[in-house]
Amino acid sequence: MEIVRSVAEAKELARAWRAAGLSVGLVPTMGYLHEGHESLMDAARAACDKVIVSVFVNPIQFGPDEDFDSYPRDLHRDVAICEAHGADAVFHPSVEDMYPAGFSTFVEVEGLTDALCGASRPGHFRGVCTVVSKLFNIVQPHRAFFGQKDAQQLAVIKRMVADLNMDVQVVGCPIVREADGLAKSSRNTYLDPQERQAALVLSRAIRAAEQAVCDGQHDAACVRAIIEGTIAAEPLACIDYVQVVDGLTMQPVKTIEDSVLVAIAVRIGTTRLIDNFIFEGEPTCS
Ligand code: PAF
Repeated sequence: MEIVRSVAEAKELARAWRAAGLSVGLVPTMGYLHEGHESLMDAARAACDKVIVSVFVNPIQFGPDEDFDSYPRDLHRDVAICEAHGADAVFHPSVEDMYPAGFSTFVEVEGLTDALCGASRPGHFRGVCTVVSKLFNIVQPHRAFFGQKDAQQLAVIKRMVADLNMDVQVVGCPIVREADGLAKSSRNTYLDPQERQAALVLSRAIRAAEQAVCDGQHDAACVRAIIEGTIAAEPLACIDYVQVVDGLTMQPVKTIEDSVLVAIAVRIGTTRLIDNFIFEGEPTCS
């Protein structure tokens, strides 16, 4: 497996793959890889001839008071995980190579970035869309793989790809959870044992909401109340948002029908965690 540290090298490697007629899969990550990322690599491995994993903690998607500096980093471990999951290359550029002096171009998706995480984290999706556009231009992958845990990010990237006629298939992969239900996230490492226990309230609330919808509760306000009630019972938890929105436009809906996203963001101490489910209609209920 190759470790590629410059934009120029990554372009060259991906160009050679395409020239050889090979399909290229990109798994964009910020590193500190966990089983969620591994599932993206496995999906890429199954669908593409060559798999490249980018590991880049993207400064421009963090707000000034957010955790860019403390975001966990361990390239050595990440490389071993990529290798174990059959990746062909890891792309680990420097901030200076991605954003050289004079960098002035940003990609902004309007509308669906206003709500949910976009409202709580101004500028976040502008940073995500800019770096993902750059990664797409550098690697020119046939397919790119993203987790459904960041459901708004996935919707925003799909919108951007459609709007800007980008030649890449965006593949969304299901949320991967710990055995006790907590959605896998690099930020779970911030939680102390008591907070780790408290964080279970997110998946508990999401499960309760999903069950209610599957049992026939299609009123968005009632489903939100179920979630808010569950979270209120956990003293260490503080709601950032509880939203029931259309899965494509991120606009709030009153009635839960097909393709509705129920998404939450909750602070456990100083750690902000997210979780969600998408209701695709009765057949998806177990
Ligand atoms: O989901 C993430 O880890 C990041 O937002 C992404 C897509 C790698 C862009 O930095």
